[in-house]
Amino acid sequence: MTAILNSKIYVAGHRGMVGSAIVRNLEAKGFTNIVIRTHAELDLTNQAAVKDFFEAEKPDQVYLAAARVGGIHANNTYPAEFIYDNLMIQNNVIHQAFVHGVKKLLFLGSSCIYPKLAPQPMSEDALLTGKLESTNEPYAIAKIAGIKMCESYNRQYGTSHGVDYRSVMPTNLYGPGDNYHPENSHVIPALIRRFHEAKVSNAPEVVIWGTGTPRREFLYVDDMAAASVFVMELDKKTYDQHAEPMQSHINVGFGSDITIEELAEAVGDTVGFKGKISFDASKPDGSLRKWIDSGRLNNLGWRAKIGLDEGLRIAYQDMLSR
Ligand SMILES: NC(=O)c1ccc[n+]([C@@H]2O[C@H](COP(=O)([O-])OP(=O)(O)OC[C@H]3O[C@@H](n4cnc5c(N)ncnc54)[C@H](OP(=O)(O)O)[C@@H]3O)[C@@H](O)[C@H]2O)c1
Repeated sequence: MTAILNSKIYVAGHRGMVGSAIVRNLEAKGFTNIVIRTHAELDLTNQAAVKDFFEAEKPDQVYLAAARVGGIHANNTYPAEFIYDNLMIQNNVIHQAFVHGVKKLLFLGSSCIYPKLAPQPMSEDALLTGKLESTNEPYAIAKIAGIKMCESYNRQYGTSHGVDYRSVMPTNLYGPGDNYHPENSHVIPALIRRFHEAKVSNAPEVVIWGTGTPRREFLYVDDMAAASVFVMELDKKTYDQHAEPMQSHINVGFGSDITIEELAEAVGDTVGFKGKISFDASKPDGSLRKWIDSGRLNNLGWRAKIGLDEGLRIAYQDMLSR
């Protein structure tokens, strides 16, 4: 069942980077009945409040883009909050969606669900084949539980209740709405901020941790939103042909990766930094390569549209406008 333009669509986490991009995408497509609640209006860890919300609104579709999200530092410092909040948010939203007759739901996960030593690029079938990266294991376990929750509801209630809950696993995202916090941001917003500050202060050099050789994949957030709506709107037969009942999640990647050095040069160019970029090889590199296999999504007919240069330009403007 694809949504008609006045279908009632609840986007959970609409103020976040991904949720706001999903709202932009749906509005651009002409959807007129999007339901939103801020965190202050509806705490999704509160089971009774989530139940009341679904009872009152009875949405037709749900995009679940609300989550407690953070970098390594936050994941390491607040592991209890990361596992508790995420399990509660997704359990409440997925279960109450089911109880209140929602047939279509899209759960947003992350590529950290895959084992630390998974073969590259990481395909969907790498899930649960090995140990996770320890720093964000609690968060990843919650995300894996979210995938399995969607699958379990499909298996038990798919035929009897028409339930069709899907999951998408994005690679690293960047773009408008990103977090530029000095200690707690992902690599692209952190680099944009550092190069911008270096430009403004006329610093001769920016030094980046590690050797610059590790490879990473980056997807512009509006591409992620487009992929989310694309997967949600696929007809069930097509989706079922490309996914399996107990391995139903779909990776969303850019399709290729770049080195941290190439990324730093691209960010420096975007920001207009004229100084030197150097690398401190005494600092840790992390995994040498991390990218996901987007073959399943590509076979379904979707590809990313926004390249790194264009994406960085928009992201930089977004940072300047704050
Ligand atoms: N950003 C990435 O690179 C990336 C990569 C892969 C996957 N993802 C996934 O995409 C999803 C969204 O990520 P994002 O980057 O958009 O995160 P984000 O910008 O931090 O947005 C998350 C949103 O969830 C809301 N939220 C958190 N706890 C809540 C609660 N208890 N009740 C109600 N709302 C709550 C937040 O509201 P407040 O800010 O008011 O708390 C925020 O609006 C997550 O599932 C994440 O795993 C993101």
